[in-house]
Amino acid sequence: MNRENWGSRFGFIMAAAGSAIGLGNVWRFPYVAGENGGGAFLLIYLVIVAVFGFSLAMTEIALGRATQRNPVGAFRALGGRRWMPAGFLGVAAGFVILSFYIVVAGWTLAYVGFMARGMLGSTDPAVLGARFESFIADPLVPLYYAGCFMALVVLVVSGGIGRGIERANRWLMPALFGLLLVLVVRAVTLPGAAEGLRFLLMPDFSRVTGATFGAALAQAFFSLSLGMGCLLTYGSYLSRREPIPSTTATFVGLDLLASVLAGMIVLPVVFSFGFDPGSGPGLTFVTLPAIFASMPGGAVFGGMFFLLLAIAALTSAMSILEPAVAYFVDEHGLSRRLTVAGCALVCFMLAIPSSLSFGLACGLQVGGRSFFDLMDFTATNLMLPLGALLTSLFVGWRWCDGARQEIFAATGVAPIWIGTWKLVLRFIAPAGLSWIFLASSGLI
Ligand code: TRP
Repeated sequence: MNRENWGSRFGFIMAAAGSAIGLGNVWRFPYVAGENGGGAFLLIYLVIVAVFGFSLAMTEIALGRATQRNPVGAFRALGGRRWMPAGFLGVAAGFVILSFYIVVAGWTLAYVGFMARGMLGSTDPAVLGARFESFIADPLVPLYYAGCFMALVVLVVSGGIGRGIERANRWLMPALFGLLLVLVVRAVTLPGAAEGLRFLLMPDFSRVTGATFGAALAQAFFSLSLGMGCLLTYGSYLSRREPIPSTTATFVGLDLLASVLAGMIVLPVVFSFGFDPGSGPGLTFVTLPAIFASMPGGAVFGGMFFLLLAIAALTSAMSILEPAVAYFVDEHGLSRRLTVAGCALVCFMLAIPSSLSFGLACGLQVGGRSFFDLMDFTATNLMLPLGALLTSLFVGWRWCDGARQEIFAATGVAPIWIGTWKLVLRFIAPAGLSWIFLASSGLI
């Protein structure tokens, strides 16, 4: 079978960076860093990404490229039927993640309009908080935006790899970095911005606890799109001529850069106006509009900020849908367009209870969690760590030589790095991932 390939190395790197850079970088990273001690968190995060994230990302890409398959097909080709559930876990996780991801992405889309039309012109976080709450509690409007967002994803992914996903990322990713840079310049030139930069960059080790490492680990693999076969599937379209280590290093570097730049936007802005950087998920939708409203040209910068968030979410959402699409197309011979439409419909149906759980259905709780939180928790804390754990065990212990060939052959990488990679896959990643999985499932 002749599989479609990415048109160029640049195209693949933009697509992989597009997958990695998402709500996780712009919405989640600044507040997680804020809650976990700023610079000290950044330092730990850097080491975890460089050692653990980088090794696992190369491994997923190698699994896809060697087999030219979707997650289920890849595990079956190399490990036999016994390993197929590891692939199915990834395909299923895609539906769960996308179902709540499009809800938040829909909010960002709505906020582009709200900011640009000056509808959030208050500087009082209490007023903005109430407005945000009433917006997300509405039964229809957020779903309308989630639907629009899903339609955009369908439009791109139906186009296939080269003419759909690659083409979109080649335009959207440079635009995203352009917006990031403009906003960084605006943020660091605000009076009092230095305080925020110091908070982001100066390590304060007195605030580091065991939980800091757990938070950094979880942030790293969510941000790098690991654990559900996204990179595996994108890797299956990568030409054999491309060296895996350097291409992976480039997109991992871009993902880090995007997180640091997002931190350099959000934290100076927050400090400059005297807000609390540890104020959690509301930071983006409540605190930032308050700040933009009190800034000259705030409607423009605020509109740009939410546009940035929507673009970042769009390129990530494509990659969350693709493994499931590749599975149905490869294994069941379905047409791409039909599959994309079907999968999107399922995700949207699952998004309905998630969105309603902020309003009408807030009483519907499972184990003390709303439907939205349940989806988020199941995917992020259970399915992804388990998926990444199975991947590292499978490659570390069963397909190690094959993966080593696929990744390092003809690259002239020093043996010490190959040894480190093997050590990470066999011992370090399984230990860290089991720890996250057991701790979040309440087993330890
Ligand atoms: N990495 C993306 C972000 O930072 C989200 C994402 C895309 C993702 N694909 C994924 C997360 C796969 C986990 C697994 O927002």
